Parts: sequence; structure tokens; C-alpha cells
Amino acid sequence: MEQAMRDFFLFLSKNKALTKMAKKYGLRFGARRFVAGETIGEAVDVIKQLNKQGLCVTIDYLGEFVDNEQEAGQIADGSIAAIKAIGREGLDSQLSLKLTSMGLDISDEVVMSNMRRIMEAAVDNNVFVTIDMEDYSRCEKTIQIFKQLKLEYANIGTVIQAYLFRTVSDIEALNDFHPNLRLVKGAYKESPEVAFPEKKDVDENFQKIIKMHLLNGNYTAIASHDDSIVEYTKKLAVEHNIPKDQFEFQMLYGIRNERQVELAKEGYKMRVYVPYGNDWYGYFMRRLAERPANVAFVLKGMLKK
Ligand code: FDA
Repeated sequence: MEQAMRDFFLFLSKNKALTKMAKKYGLRFGARRFVAGETIGEAVDVIKQLNKQGLCVTIDYLGEFVDNEQEAGQIADGSIAAIKAIGREGLDSQLSLKLTSMGLDISDEVVMSNMRRIMEAAVDNNVFVTIDMEDYSRCEKTIQIFKQLKLEYANIGTVIQAYLFRTVSDIEALNDFHPNLRLVKGAYKESPEVAFPEKKDVDENFQKIIKMHLLNGNYTAIASHDDSIVEYTKKLAVEHNIPKDQFEFQMLYGIRNERQVELAKEGYKMRVYVPYGNDWYGYFMRRLAERPANVAFVLKGMLKK
């Protein structure tokens, strides 16, 4: 049942007509729990609150699977506006983005030109940029673009997903770049030919790559709401004398805020991923796919209205 629900929401997440409708009608169906707002002003207010709680942030101007150059340019402009707001307001925040929102599916020229514009603004404002990882069909291309940009800019990282079979060799190959990587379980629907279908195998692979990347001496963001992964990392750090400034925990806005604050109080760097903008639909559907309790929350919210 849980798997069927997960598949259903992941299927919905790619529906173009619903994505378009969601943009038109604004944040609905409890999406506000996971999305900071539609404007940069709303996002800035949320980030200030989180910073006050001792949490740092990575902001994401939502957008994905864009198929025209003009829209990709507009989303790049939105990301640049977010970077400038971080600089202007003195926020403790990085930036995250998806390459399909920058024109990955359009052409190399479009995606690279948008990324270079963003990276120049990020350098000017001293903002670190993380390239999110999308579905498997875009993984190789995303890693190639990351490597190219990493040769040009120091302040860039990307994401590696524990559910993919290729991940251990990616971690090994990327070690040449000593990258700052965000490690996650993986949020897309993938075929059993490329990804572990069983949760226990994903968890095992997650622990394996956390250990590899940390013991290679690299800065590592462990992005998970799973206490067993958090505890595994803490223990690993103690056993191997890994300093607290070589890693951080990351969680999503709207999920386990109390736990986030607790970890920050324990002296760990805790970063919250804060999405905003009108292209909230696909992101919201993936959050519903991850956890049936999130669906119950949304249904309750709808019934109250
Ligand atoms: P999972 O969903 O497996 O949950 C494990 C356990 O955690 C649960 O059994 C429960 O104990 C606890 N838990 C989870 N949610 C809870 C809640 N609301 N309340 C209480 N307990 C809860 N994916 C991707 O493919 N590409 C990307 O670029 C990113 N980027 C990204 C950034 C950040 C900052 C995060 C946190 C996540 C991502 N992800 C992602 C999403 C990621 O791949 C994954 O889908 C989700 O984080 C869900 O997996 P978890 O590891 O959180 O645990």
C-alpha cells in the first residue's frame, strides 16, 4: 500500500498540466508547510526566523524540467535575485538549484550560460551553490557539468543519491575534486536496473558513502530526517576523530524543525533546505511520496477549510 502511494505521488509529480495549473493558482493543499512562499520577500522572512533559531539555510528558487530558453533564463534571474538577497540581508544561507530549471534539457549552451551567470553572482556575494540531483537519466550529465564548473569556481557542490548502483564509483571518481557533496537517499522513481528497490539496501549504501566521503577527508552534508543515519554519522565522527566542521546535517523546511534545533544546540551545523516560488507542485508531490503521514497532514488541512 505504502509503495503504491509512493508510486502514485511520484507519477503525479511529473504531470505537466497539473504543474501549469499549480503555478496559476498559487500555493495550495497544505504546500505552505513545505514551501516558504511564492516571493523572495516571504522566503527572506522565513530564513531570518530559521537563522534566529541557530539554523543555516540553503534557499531554492523552485523550478524543474523547463523546456524553453526564456523560462530557463527567468529562473536563473530568480536564483540571482535570491543570491543578491542573501548578500543584502546578511543571511546565513547558501543556494540550491536544479539543472533542468537552467536549461539542461534544452542545450549545453543554455544551461552553461545560465549557470555561469549564477556562479558569478554567487562569487560576488560569497554564496555557496549546490546542484541538486534529479532523475537517473540526468545524473551523468549533471556530474559532468558539476565537474566542469568546479574547475572554474570553488564555491560549488552537488548531490549524490544513495539509491543508485553507480553511487560508490561516483564517490570514488569525484574524490579527485575533493568536493563538498550533499549525500541523500534519493527522491525519484527509478528502475530496479539502476537503483536499489529495497529501503534496507539504500540505507546500507547511504552509510557506506557517508563513511567513504568523510574518511577521504571531504566536507560532507548528510541530508536526511532519519535518526538512524544521524546517529550513525555522529558515532562515525567520534570513532574516526572527524571534526564537527568537516560535516553538517541537512533537513527540509517543514520537516522535524524541533530535531533540527536540537542538533544545532548539540553543536552540529544544521542546514535547512528552503524552497520558494510558484513552481512548487513537483517538489510538493515528492514530499507526499516520501511519507504517508505528510499526506494525512494535507488531508486534515483540506478538511479544515
Ligand atoms: P526517510 O524518508 O527514509 O525516513 C526515514 C525515517 O526518518 C522515518 O522512518 C522516520 O523515522 C524519520 N522521519 C522522516 N520524516 C519524518 C518526519 N516528518 N517526522 C518524524 N520522523 C521522520 N533527493 C534527491 O533525489 N535529490 C536531491 O538533490 C535532494 N536534495 C535534498 C536536500 C535535503 C536537504 C534533503 C533533506 C533531502 C533531499 N533529497 C534529495 C530528498 C532525499 O533523497 C529523500 O527523498 C528524503 O530526504 C527522505 O529520505 P530521508 O533520508 O529523510 O529518510
